[in-house]
Amino acid sequence: MCGIVGYVGSRQAQNVIIEGLEKLEYRGYDSSGIAVVHENSINTAKFKGRLSVLDNFTKENPITGNVGIGHTRWATHGAPSDINSHPHLNNKETIAVVHNGIIENYLTLKEELQSKGYQFVSETDTEVIAHIVDYYYEGDLMEAVFKAIKKLKGAYALGVIAKDSPGEMIAVRKESPLIVGLSEDGNYIASDVPAILNYTRDVYFLDNGEVVRLKPSGVEIFDFDKNPVDKEVHTVEWSVEAATKGGYEHFMLKEVYEQPQAIKETLTRRIDEDGYIKLDDIKLSAEDLNSINKIYIVACGTAYHAGKIGKLAIEKLAKIPVETDIASEFRYSDPFVDKNTLLILVSQSGETADTLAALREAKRKGARVLSITNVVGSSIARESDDVFYTWAGPEVAVASTKAYTTQLIAFYMVALNMAIKKGTITKELYFEVLDEMKTLSSKVESLLENVDAEKSIAERIKDKSSLFYLGRGADYQTALEGSLKLKEISYIFTEAFAAGELKHGTIALIEEGTPVVAIATQKDLVGKMISNIKEVKARGAYVYAIATEGETEIKKVADEVIYIPETLDILKPVLSVIPTQLIAYYTSLAKGIDVDKPRNLAKSVTVE
Ligand code: G6P
Repeated sequence: MCGIVGYVGSRQAQNVIIEGLEKLEYRGYDSSGIAVVHENSINTAKFKGRLSVLDNFTKENPITGNVGIGHTRWATHGAPSDINSHPHLNNKETIAVVHNGIIENYLTLKEELQSKGYQFVSETDTEVIAHIVDYYYEGDLMEAVFKAIKKLKGAYALGVIAKDSPGEMIAVRKESPLIVGLSEDGNYIASDVPAILNYTRDVYFLDNGEVVRLKPSGVEIFDFDKNPVDKEVHTVEWSVEAATKGGYEHFMLKEVYEQPQAIKETLTRRIDEDGYIKLDDIKLSAEDLNSINKIYIVACGTAYHAGKIGKLAIEKLAKIPVETDIASEFRYSDPFVDKNTLLILVSQSGETADTLAALREAKRKGARVLSITNVVGSSIARESDDVFYTWAGPEVAVASTKAYTTQLIAFYMVALNMAIKKGTITKELYFEVLDEMKTLSSKVESLLENVDAEKSIAERIKDKSSLFYLGRGADYQTALEGSLKLKEISYIFTEAFAAGELKHGTIALIEEGTPVVAIATQKDLVGKMISNIKEVKARGAYVYAIATEGETEIKKVADEVIYIPETLDILKPVLSVIPTQLIAYYTSLAKGIDVDKPRNLAKSVTVE
């Protein structure tokens, strides 16, 4: 998966593109490149490494011209290298292409093209596109692109420019995300909104199977059969400030500190005058809900962990059986799904390929689909029957934080909404939970006021080779998320275990000095957790516990305790995850790792 930016207009394309790519580095950052049409040639610069390499080069060797495309890469076909970086060119260097996605039939196409005399220089799938467009090009770039895409199988967002069609750029969307930005000074393409926010807020969210011709004066959109498409212009509400670091050292820290606001936004704007939850984009009636006999919650990564808490909330409040599954497993498991199944998808980006594929598989089998996503107009949102938008604002750091806590809020709201419609809870319980939810924002804020404990834990675990997270019930789910966060950005081997399973094998891994983070916030389970803490302590573990204020027993057994404010047990995951995010952040920082862009990971995984 990768980030694309393109521009046609009166500005210098290089500046617009590099600035845009900076905002898209979360989509990939192993190499980057740019191509600009200028005075009868296409000038290109592309390098392995972070975007700063390209930025420094183009500052010293500016590439002038007003029409260009750029790309930041996360390698899929061919290792990161200058040659494999995009844009890719045809042999005459008259056509340049940037691509996000995967061309599944590229090997067959490559052979066909080689037999026609085309020379390949890279190991990428993308290079075939440059040669096919060349093959069909007879002076009309759009016509050549139309012909080329008929040959391509797979997922692709494309930006294409040609030396002999100097005043235009052609863009295509099939599966991979792409938006078009409109302004007086020119028009833009980008993989995501923040890339162009400095220039415009007016955008088209392209649908699958659309081709766009961009000129400085305007934009025309067609379907794959060349029929003109009339689309609505959306005005983006995110501020530029919201999409940049805003004074914090890292996006992750900024996003951690944005959680109180994000939680408030997600919750309070959905309460009607009578105090009830109002979910405008969810049309599930009481009748619909009564016909649902099973819910599947499907997602990847952090979003999957939010789904595990969602299961607990929905089963407890709405009394509907819920199964959870990882999207990449779900889609190939021939899941038992029919028209009486509700599929709930969770995805920050709304573009994760596996999650999108799970959506399509479930729809094919007749299920209704509700998605919880942070990105308005994303593919998952558009293909779902019902949508809950977490109003967390753009999340840029690879390690997901505010998206996760707002996903939890979304689940509580969906569960309460279902429960009151189905009559499975009393009005009193409904308002008890909802009123308590309104206190979460300030409770998160209080947890973020003093982070000394997390900083000191980070210092002590930074050189450890492994660490274990333990929990029971909802705390086990938080342990899974805490562990994922730590491994993503500190590279320490960490696993989360259901504390009750310890004695069935895991305890063999505990030795003198092994750090263990024990999450023990659930009232009914604290006693059991205390026993588990004693078990690991007896084998030499050093235990950092996360417990609820007022609980007095944990500190007698754990070495150190971080307390979270009291709230309903079911809501505690919103609070208990905060120390785990901070431990991960400060450990990453202490180890000198690039917190926002950890190795091998990308923010938005739009390939299977
Ligand atoms: C990637 C990210 C994770 C994220 C997962 C799912 O792996 O690194 O942080 O949780 O994708 O992303 P989504 O956008 O679907 O929530």
